[in-house]
Amino acid sequence: MANVVELLNSRPSQTDAAVAKPIGAVVLVGAGPGDPELLTRKAQAAILAADIVFYDELVSAEIMAEIPTRIARVYVGKRHGTVSIDQADIIEGVITAVMAGKRVVRLKGGDPMIFGRGGEEIEALSAAGIEVSVVPGITAATGAASSTGIPLTHRDHAAQVTILTGTRRDGSLSDVRGLAGEGKTLIIYMAIRRTAEVAAALRADGVPGDLPVAIVENATRPNERTIKVTVDTLAETVVREAVQSPALLIVGHVAAVSSAIVRSTAAGEFGGIPSAHFATVRT
Ligand SMILES: C[S@@+](CC[C@H](N)C(=O)[O-])C[C@H]1O[C@@H](n2cnc3c(N)ncnc32)[C@H](O)[C@@H]1O
Repeated sequence: MANVVELLNSRPSQTDAAVAKPIGAVVLVGAGPGDPELLTRKAQAAILAADIVFYDELVSAEIMAEIPTRIARVYVGKRHGTVSIDQADIIEGVITAVMAGKRVVRLKGGDPMIFGRGGEEIEALSAAGIEVSVVPGITAATGAASSTGIPLTHRDHAAQVTILTGTRRDGSLSDVRGLAGEGKTLIIYMAIRRTAEVAAALRADGVPGDLPVAIVENATRPNERTIKVTVDTLAETVVREAVQSPALLIVGHVAAVSSAIVRSTAAGEFGGIPSAHFATVRT
């Protein structure tokens, strides 16, 4: 993989005046599920080398607060139910910044390549002749697994994991057939507003109503909440508990595996790793 800092620092040769057009560079960076300490070193280096950061709704306030003020920031969030910036306008903004010679970080929640439109942005930027590099991030599913102590695989419960979007591009519910049940873990993103439909589709596929489900809201963030339910009680619980986005569903027997998670609030444990959200599992 290209060195992202080198990529951001690279400038075209200005020797030929006829083609001396400033061209910057773009790095798609995964910001992880929210806890700033889950940023990779590469992500941090790319951000610090940037002139401008275009960031999404899911990039946590804690991460944004750590970006030095010398770096310009542009919010390009697409929160459900509010006026959102068109994907084409985001790309246009990024291209304009690159053509002005800026080093651009396109900062996305979780991993850019998992329901992050990373592929679409790479295609559009490449078509415009712009070099793109990608820094992975911890996706919400694995962030939630570590933070809640719910294993996504377990030799007694699941040998298969599926990460599914609840909502497809045309707004329809994704096909859940064959994805949940014995020996399987199904993680559903972008489905918290349609849990009644999800539960009905699972039941129609023969999934038992008492199959465990974990609802994980704001995984890895200070306001993280986990609610353990079943397929049959999922929808009513989401309404009663007023579960908000971002949240995901973990469907399968692993959701009932109980682990005691102890959050360390003091730096100094584990060799001084300074983490407010560092989770340890006590069995
Ligand atoms: C557009 S997708 C982006 C996924 C992201 N690229 C990733 O890899 O995590 C947004 C969905 O991811 C899930 N999500 C993202 N961050 C989350 C978090 N901190 N806690 C729970 N779910 C989260 C939610 O289901 C949310 O609706």
